[in-house]
Amino acid sequence: MYQYVQEYANQDTRDSWDEWSGFRNSIGSILTIAIDRYNLSTNRILVLGAGNGNDVPIDIIEKYFGEIVIVDIDPKALDSFMGKTKQKEKYTKIVIDLSGFAAQVENLNLVDITDDSLIELIKKISPKVDLSAIHGKFDVIYNANYFTQLTIPLGFKYQQVHVQPPDSIKQAISAITNNTQIQLFQQIEKLLNINGVCLHSSDFLELNYNPITKEANETCKLVMQVTEGLKYIENVQTINSLISEKGLRIEGSTLPVSLIKQIFKTNTVFFLYWPFDHSDMYFKGYVVQLFVFQKL
Ligand SMILES: C[S@@+](CC[C@H](N)C(=O)[O-])C[C@H]1O[C@@H](n2cnc3c(N)ncnc32)[C@H](O)[C@@H]1O
Repeated sequence: MYQYVQEYANQDTRDSWDEWSGFRNSIGSILTIAIDRYNLSTNRILVLGAGNGNDVPIDIIEKYFGEIVIVDIDPKALDSFMGKTKQKEKYTKIVIDLSGFAAQVENLNLVDITDDSLIELIKKISPKVDLSAIHGKFDVIYNANYFTQLTIPLGFKYQQVHVQPPDSIKQAISAITNNTQIQLFQQIEKLLNINGVCLHSSDFLELNYNPITKEANETCKLVMQVTEGLKYIENVQTINSLISEKGLRIEGSTLPVSLIKQIFKTNTVFFLYWPFDHSDMYFKGYVVQLFVFQKL
């Protein structure tokens, strides 16, 4: 059911191209700044978690790069991505499981299962990330907002009914996340040319608000206050420790910092708002951190 969960989510956001245009354009501006500031070569770019391409500045990557490789677990989403492209000859599509453990849980029902059985099952998972189907080196690798998705199917039982998993399950999932992320970054580093850049973009705070009842989750209240209604999104940095203390960060958004320090120079970090699903009845949005990691 791993694949099913990701495909279901992608079907839901297939038509988000217009809604996400501001977010996508900000990522395009950051990419343009990075190319200019770090004098990057623009022969090849790799987009991991490319999906439907709604958060990928397609016009900008086509303008700058000679070759574009897009990767996702969901082949239908990659087809939808290709439908938005103009210079099709520049692209290669590759279907890969970036979690390294999807096959280990694919045939299991992760919803109709007791907490005890789920925790046993999670503890047996051993991620083996394999990016060997991606050939050659890249000047830029864009991690397109998929890190927090990788373990979603493991907690889907709770997500479906909008409750937090028990701490024991959260801890077991975090251990998998950490293992997967370490393998991913090690392989990303190998795929980069010297001085090449990984633009690592990931949601880390979820904002929920109901415009009718005016109800908001705790994260939304805190973020709205400190950013003056999303005007100064970078101000979320000032509540970093409070966010961690309260356990408000989204699973998958905490990075393996010591590995990153060993293999990358962290040039800068940007804060963005991602209006994920805004309607008259309900809105869900994310605060996103986008790091510019440069290979040493
Ligand atoms: C929230 S979406 C990001 C938005 C996406 N780039 C788009 O515009 O549609 C996360 C993406 O990560 C992909 N993804 C999730 N788990 C994956 C995995 N294990 N391997 C590869 N891709 C995965 C999903 O299929 C989805 O396309």
